[in-house]
Amino acid sequence: MDLGTVALSDSTKEIVIIDQTKLPGEKRMLRLSSVEEFYNAIKRLEVRGAPAIGVFAGFAMYLCACKIEADDFDSFYAAFSKDRDYLESSRPTAVNLSWALGRMDRVAKDHKDEPIPSILEALKSESILIQKEDEEACKAIGENALTLLKPGFGLLTHCNAGALATSKYGTATAAMYLGHERGYDFHIYCDETRPLLQGARLTAYELASAGMDVTLECDNMVSALMASGKIDAVLVGCDRVAANGDTANKIGTSVVALTAKHYGIPFYVCGPMSTIDPSVKDGSMIPIEERDPDEVTSMWYERPMAPAGIKVFNPAFDVTDHSLISAIITETGVFYPPFSFGN
Ligand code: MRU
Repeated sequence: MDLGTVALSDSTKEIVIIDQTKLPGEKRMLRLSSVEEFYNAIKRLEVRGAPAIGVFAGFAMYLCACKIEADDFDSFYAAFSKDRDYLESSRPTAVNLSWALGRMDRVAKDHKDEPIPSILEALKSESILIQKEDEEACKAIGENALTLLKPGFGLLTHCNAGALATSKYGTATAAMYLGHERGYDFHIYCDETRPLLQGARLTAYELASAGMDVTLECDNMVSALMASGKIDAVLVGCDRVAANGDTANKIGTSVVALTAKHYGIPFYVCGPMSTIDPSVKDGSMIPIEERDPDEVTSMWYERPMAPAGIKVFNPAFDVTDHSLISAIITETGVFYPPFSFGN
């Protein structure tokens, strides 16, 4: 479960990540040091998954700050804010990005009367803390989720909310890792997750590598799978949870939730408290990223699988209505409906 998702190399002033676009065929590490490289890594999904993006953003702001040449706080902060805004524009949906950038921003401002080297030390400590907290949160989410599951359960997950999307354990997968260690003998099913195949390329890869019993199926097989009686619970991650519990997660999640409701299967959303955004009243206010049409028409195929120039609808996320969610599992506990995450 320790896949080297995101690591800070302070001695070389780089972030080292596993390039998730190359998995499962190739385990290629990337060493990134400029703000453009950081932006592109998020945009191109070389690093992805809400918590991992947050951890990455913390390290990125520390390394950006190290490069700033300034004699006073005001000029330091002007350059720092420019980098922060640029990184924040890389992807809109996962709130963990702006949450981590906001944390780094606050630390810079809290130390504004200190010399620049002290500000850099404080930023480094904060970025390391964000990663440590993420690892602890994921483990706690796993413990909390495990209280809702029984040995031998069939579990379905969508996209990748695994170790590759966090510092360790994952969110939706944390109970799977912990259950595996404790002999729960889960049977895990992964939706392949069109169009970018995070379920097939990443979740199936990391869970199978850990020795779990994993079965892959296409997204459109979910109803057949549930009808077969093989699924006892669904566990998914989240990119932003609104105050009323509406949850943005990888495109297709809401279809899984609707289908689970039909079959009476519990549908659990797993995520750290940092993914809850109380400033957003309901899901209609969550910005949804739209991505390149090529992801639908030609990516992964040897030749295009749609007519040239066809119009394409390619939202990267959808919102699952709170009424479809059985519980939201965080590091602080399990929240049941009616959800209310107000400020
Ligand atoms: O576009 P991605 O791959 O970043 O989308 C990831 C998801 O939707 C995950 O389910 C979510 O970020 C939670 S990761 C613990």
